[in-house]
Amino acid sequence: MSEDRTERIPLLPLRNSVLFPASVVPVNVGRPRSVRLIEESFGRDRPTIGVIAQLQAETEDPTFDQIHQLGTLARVLKVIRLSSGNYSVVLQGICRMEIEEAHGLEPFMQATVRRIHEPPVKDVEIDALAAHLRERARSLLELLPHLPREASAVLENVQDAGALADLVCSNLPVGTAAKQQVLELLDVRARLRKVGELVGRQAQVHEVKKEISTMVQEEMSRSQREFLLRQQMKAIRRELGEADDDDEIEILREKIAHADMPMEAEKAAKRQLSRMRSMNPAGAEYQVARNYVEWMVDLPWSKSAPVRLDVGEAKRVLDEDHHGLDEIKRRILEYIAVRKLKSNIRGPILCFVGPPGVGKTSLGRSIARATGRHFVRVALGGVQDEAEIRGHRRTYVGAYPGRIIAGLKQAGSRNPVMLLDEVDKLGNDFRGDPASALLEVLDPEQNNTFSDHYLEVPFDLSNVLFIGTANRKDTIPRPLLDRMELIELAGYTRDEKQAIARQFLIPKQLSEHGLTPERLEFEEGAVDFLVEGYTREAGVRNLERQIAAVCRNVAVRMAEGEDVQQRGTPEFIEEVLGQPKSLLQIAEKVGRPGVSTGVAWTPGGGDLLFVESSKMPGSGNLHLTGNAGPVMKESVYAAFTYIRARAEKLGLDPSFFEKIDIHVHLPQGAIPKDGPAQGVAVFVSLASMLTQLKVRPDIGMSGELTLRGNVLKVSGIKEKCLAAHRAGLTEVLLPARNAPDLDELPEQIRRELKIHLVSRLDEVLTLVLDLPPEPAVAAE
Ligand SMILES: Nc1ncnc2c1ncn2[C@@H]1O[C@H](COP(=O)(O)OP(=O)(O)O)[C@@H](O)[C@H]1O
Ligand SMILES: [Mg+2]
Repeated sequence: MSEDRTERIPLLPLRNSVLFPASVVPVNVGRPRSVRLIEESFGRDRPTIGVIAQLQAETEDPTFDQIHQLGTLARVLKVIRLSSGNYSVVLQGICRMEIEEAHGLEPFMQATVRRIHEPPVKDVEIDALAAHLRERARSLLELLPHLPREASAVLENVQDAGALADLVCSNLPVGTAAKQQVLELLDVRARLRKVGELVGRQAQVHEVKKEISTMVQEEMSRSQREFLLRQQMKAIRRELGEADDDDEIEILREKIAHADMPMEAEKAAKRQLSRMRSMNPAGAEYQVARNYVEWMVDLPWSKSAPVRLDVGEAKRVLDEDHHGLDEIKRRILEYIAVRKLKSNIRGPILCFVGPPGVGKTSLGRSIARATGRHFVRVALGGVQDEAEIRGHRRTYVGAYPGRIIAGLKQAGSRNPVMLLDEVDKLGNDFRGDPASALLEVLDPEQNNTFSDHYLEVPFDLSNVLFIGTANRKDTIPRPLLDRMELIELAGYTRDEKQAIARQFLIPKQLSEHGLTPERLEFEEGAVDFLVEGYTREAGVRNLERQIAAVCRNVAVRMAEGEDVQQRGTPEFIEEVLGQPKSLLQIAEKVGRPGVSTGVAWTPGGGDLLFVESSKMPGSGNLHLTGNAGPVMKESVYAAFTYIRARAEKLGLDPSFFEKIDIHVHLPQGAIPKDGPAQGVAVFVSLASMLTQLKVRPDIGMSGELTLRGNVLKVSGIKEKCLAAHRAGLTEVLLPARNAPDLDELPEQIRRELKIHLVSRLDEVLTLVLDLPPEPAVAAE
């Protein structure tokens, strides 16, 4: 460094940049002192000024203490006046300079400065450092695409190492402090190292930035791609009218979270849900998985209805829903009370047995209401397949859970009354035994972990109150029967039906048809007329239907605009329902010798069963027609044998049968007939035919016979008496051994039906035949 010149020049402070020698930069000038400085130097040709960086960028009017000591001597190349009154000034750095003496701040900063000369220096180390810097700068340039192309050419052209460092540094996007530091490094080696370092750091920063941005870019493009594909898929699916399954899976996930399942079940549901995510929503497997999850979330895993066990309240509800049935209600209440006491010990399952329409189903409903449980009916009639109870394995196409699980879903709570309707009609074939599956359902030892094939995870059934219904007990599968406590409902008498009609069926049907008693009022006699003339059933189902038909008539007329106020008279009923069924049928049928009236038990509650005998020329053969079962056949032969043995006593030629064939016919082919209980009726029919004495039309009969002429006990006495009474008979003939059963007969039946008890066949004929004055039959 030789003979540094000093001179007095204006100083331009820069807020946040550093001017390097040999670089040309535009600078914005706006502060009053700086503006004055520029305006003052206007006239001169390329004036020389000092440019120096402030210590703090924020300082508005810096003093000499607030600027660096070392700056750059610069030439003002160009001054452009901006519309704001500011100037854009293009400066060219000449060389480093140092303030020697400050001269004042007004009208602008002035000082005497000393130029610092930097003669070119060269040695191996400097060459190496410079080459290295050039190298680094070149690769940095590649990273900085916004730099002008010429930059790299300039880089190659600068020969002086110190100038190279200055040039590179002036272009680096580094802070003012770092640049000032470089400016102050007068030792070229140190300057080269420092700038090399800065370049290296910049390169690193850019490398990382680039990495991040490629990462972001990649991430973006992958998720964007996926997003786009999904959007397209959604659009396609919308086009096909299919559901939006993204939301679907999300919704199901929510539902699983809220279903409160046992852990095992939740796991199973989640497993299927996660499978769904990876499946094609249009595929069959997806649907299978979705169905499964939907079933799982819909089941009441831990939802319970609050159960009421107030026996008094239960009684009130039962009475409110059903007329009469006192004994049955008593037993139901007892059952409820026992369960209340020992809720953990589960007793047998209640099962209502009786003909249609006696209220089995509605009693079940009533029990649910009385105990605060939900009600669900599971129809078992005709169920052949075990899978109907226990579900299909999901490997089957179109698999679904069994009826028990389906019932629970329907109930919406895990403790409903579940009415197993028609357990007597369960089938049993190669597809497995539904009864044994049902047994598992009912077994308190097992049913807390009932496993449906479809669900595959156990469901706790131990809180379900099961109730069965059946029309007949003899076809209930034996093991089921053992688990059940049977409650038999035989049917209603005429009086009971009338009461039920008046108190329950009529009000119910009126309201179901939107009518009031003012619109349609049933007269006393009309209800009677309905019961007697239009229904011949043990229950009240048909009666309810007829009442509904009458109500409908009025409702339709009102809907047509008529202001109806109808009195429900017998005439009106006949107008709506047509002619009543004749009660004279029996007399007509029994109007000739050879026809007797049996009373039979049927699943429908009991019915009349006529026996017709006739003879024709022949050789002692016996024919039987009318769809009789083997046991019935035997009793026909037994009756015939007995008559042959008693021919003389009956006033018959002992060889009467040799020249005739006898034909016994049981009409009403639709009613299945089997069992021994028609023995007496067959005997009476044969005797009547052979003696040509008519059977009294007002008497019905039931009884098994032996070859020796004893009358044996039969079952279904109550049903039979109700049927006889219903049909308009006034007397019945029953085995003496059935005497104890008469206690259970309703009051009205005992009053209105004359019952003859017999123990020997010989007692029978005098009671049932229309005898001529002189007795033709002698007692033994
Ligand atoms: N004792 C009764 N009191 C009132 N309504 C009854 C009575 N018995 C039966 N019903 C009514 O008769 C109709 C048929 O009864 P339902 O329960 O279906 O008979 P089931 O199931 O025995 O075939 C229902 O509307 C029921 O409410
Ligand atoms: Mg029913």
